[in-house]
Amino acid sequence: MGEIRIAIAGVGNCASSLLQGIQYYRENGNSLGLLHEKLGGYGIDDIKVVAAFDIDVDKIGKDVSKAIYAKPNKAPKINELEKTGVKVQMGPSPDIAGEITMSEIKKADEETVDITSVLKKANADVLVNLISGGSDKASRLYAEAAVKAGCGFLNATPSGIVNDLSVSSAFKKAGLPVVGDDLMSQMGATAVHIGLLEFLDKRGVKIEESYQLDVGGGGESINTLEKTKESKRIIKTEAVKKHVPYDFELVSGSADFVDFLINGRDSFFYVKGKYFGGSDFVLDMKLSTEDGPNSGAVLVDVIRGLKIAMDKGAGGPLEAVSAYGFKRPPRRYMMQEAYKQFREFTS
Ligand SMILES: NC(=O)c1ccc[n+]([C@@H]2O[C@H](COP(=O)([O-])OP(=O)(O)OC[C@H]3O[C@@H](n4cnc5c(N)ncnc54)[C@H](O)[C@@H]3O)[C@@H](O)[C@H]2O)c1
Repeated sequence: MGEIRIAIAGVGNCASSLLQGIQYYRENGNSLGLLHEKLGGYGIDDIKVVAAFDIDVDKIGKDVSKAIYAKPNKAPKINELEKTGVKVQMGPSPDIAGEITMSEIKKADEETVDITSVLKKANADVLVNLISGGSDKASRLYAEAAVKAGCGFLNATPSGIVNDLSVSSAFKKAGLPVVGDDLMSQMGATAVHIGLLEFLDKRGVKIEESYQLDVGGGGESINTLEKTKESKRIIKTEAVKKHVPYDFELVSGSADFVDFLINGRDSFFYVKGKYFGGSDFVLDMKLSTEDGPNSGAVLVDVIRGLKIAMDKGAGGPLEAVSAYGFKRPPRRYMMQEAYKQFREFTS
């Protein structure tokens, strides 16, 4: 089928796991931990990084294969990445005005490159936005550059891109696909919470109240604590609520940063309700995951979804791909329906 040439904005933990994962599947030839081995004829090893942007002094100027292990990244090391020949370049940082407090990012003193020119020169198909949450202005600049360069755009961040009509309509006008917003990780707390509640509802249980809260250790947990706690709570609660056909007390959000968890995340689930004869039940559950790898399986699927859309000439917000891979898609479906729509679109 050919290559899928990706540019990455934000060489953090998700980018690290994504690139290590691509090499892992190329070397091992298995499908352990994947949702789809092939999509529309594309395998994982068809994905190739051709450009990368960051703002951190420890990453700028380095080959991506080295930058993914640089501080403050903490994603688990799966393998030693082969040299890519792609150097991390300085991106725009309009959201950072010296107000960083706990963040471990050290902004480089470098000129910002022209993102559009870099994307064009690299002949990128897709720009994957993996910058820190809360960087709304920068996310918008990357999206605008993708339109100008003729690239598809994947917004893994909680910033509103697909849901911002002024941005998503530019993609539609240009006939370029865009997916988002806020990636829903493979074993992410939101995906597991949705699956749990859909299951209980299907088993005839009446759910009365539920919460899902988590604590994490990566840089993104600092961002959530300092910048996106409220918006994440709204996004996550909305994402879950739509999957049960009646109202009940529901809270879904992130609680705090725990540095010794490194790139780990502990997610706590609580559900209270009634079953046969009005009997009460309480369910308490804890899930421990690593943030970086948790994003990988969904990222490789939605990247391929974007390329397939480009091959088909489909532009604008992709409803099926977004509903499958993101917490805040332009249109929501029940989980099984979202899988079905995604598979139909990518087949
Ligand atoms: N499983 C997951 O980890 C997961 C799930 C859903 C959404 N997300 C979203 O994906 C994004 C990446 O998550 P992460 O865990 O890799 O974060 P991270 O903190 O590990 O990495 C973010 C990277 O972006 C860089 N950056 C910040 N501002 C930038 C800018 N203006 N231009 C270029 N680079 C910039 C930082 O230096 C850092 O290298 C976040 O927005 C997060 O909310 C992640």
